[in-house]
Amino acid sequence: MFNFALIGAGRIGKMHAEIINANPDTNLKFVYDLNPEFAIEVANKSNAEIAHSPEDAIKSSEIDAVLIASATPTHIQFIKMAASAGKPVFCEKPIDLDINKVNECKKELKDIKSPIQIGFNRRFDLSHSKAQQARLNKEIGILEMIVITSRDPAAPGLDYLNAAGGFFRDTTIHDFDLSRFILGDDPILEVSAFGANLFDENAKIANDFDTAMFILKSKSGVLIHINNSRRAVYGYDQRVEIFGSEGMVISNNQTTNSLERYTSTSTSSKDLIHFFFIERYQQAYRDQFNSFVECIKMNKPPKVTFEDGRKALIIANAAYESFENKKTVEIKYD
Ligand SMILES: NC(=O)c1ccc[n+]([C@@H]2O[C@H](COP(=O)([O-])OP(=O)(O)OC[C@H]3O[C@@H](n4cnc5c(N)ncnc54)[C@H](O)[C@@H]3O)[C@@H](O)[C@H]2O)c1
Repeated sequence: MFNFALIGAGRIGKMHAEIINANPDTNLKFVYDLNPEFAIEVANKSNAEIAHSPEDAIKSSEIDAVLIASATPTHIQFIKMAASAGKPVFCEKPIDLDINKVNECKKELKDIKSPIQIGFNRRFDLSHSKAQQARLNKEIGILEMIVITSRDPAAPGLDYLNAAGGFFRDTTIHDFDLSRFILGDDPILEVSAFGANLFDENAKIANDFDTAMFILKSKSGVLIHINNSRRAVYGYDQRVEIFGSEGMVISNNQTTNSLERYTSTSTSSKDLIHFFFIERYQQAYRDQFNSFVECIKMNKPPKVTFEDGRKALIIANAAYESFENKKTVEIKYD
């Protein structure tokens, strides 16, 4: 049995607590959150103990691994604390918003062997990963284009926008990572980014966007298009299209059931797609955690590494540079 410490018991932390206790090989032992109410709520529900400090939770000899789901600017301090205590770490994306801090952390931990997995859950979605597998198996011949549509159902509040660190680094970072996952060893080398404020007053106040589009190009010449919105009135719109010389695979939106209605006013009408990420990627969140546990057990490297988190942030930074300078930006990973 692996005892976990959970740092951060907010929106996604609550979900991770349930996932930890659903795995027969893992147990949630300690919870720590700056907000004691959240820690108490999760601890009571999960039969866990409340830690009085992150150190108490992470460094405890009873703890075998650490799951970090706290606010983004706190990730690096907890990654360092856990990895240097020899604990395997699962950390939510993004690692941080500041690439200098990420690079410094990489340097500091270079001789430390503790595995670190970053929470790019979409790689574990069964449909997305089957699409990626089809590309690897050359089922669509030579890869030429990737099209990713990723739209949230509704815009978040101003507090979230002020804390999250911007659309590209907080949200599109998932799509940059998914593109890297599909491309495999063909690195993304160029990005052109556009952002717009079309409807959300809070995004304007926070100096952020509510709508964005990107074109990226890989070393071999594959073109990638990503489009994001913070308002899709029909739900959480998540589609991936991979196109090549021999055809195309599509990972489509999912509804809660497969019922189709045919009436005098509509043909083939279905129920709404999943509302948001917790529902849509339920299976992916569970499988990413189970994969992390399997890697610890088998002493294997995690499937999504610290370096994956670092490279996705580098692409997001290049996208901001492209937007600000109104030009295509070359991406350098060093
Ligand atoms: N992979 C995904 O799909 C996904 C989805 C949502 C959020 N996230 C990421 O998860 C992280 C948390 O996001 P959220 O939506 O749950 O936010 P949230 O605001 O709901 O929760 C964050 C929690 O961290 C706590 N916290 C803040 N500072 C802390 C500290 N120093 N020590 C301990 N706890 C602290 C807050 O009290 C809060 O409970 C973010 O990094 C976010 O980017 C990932």
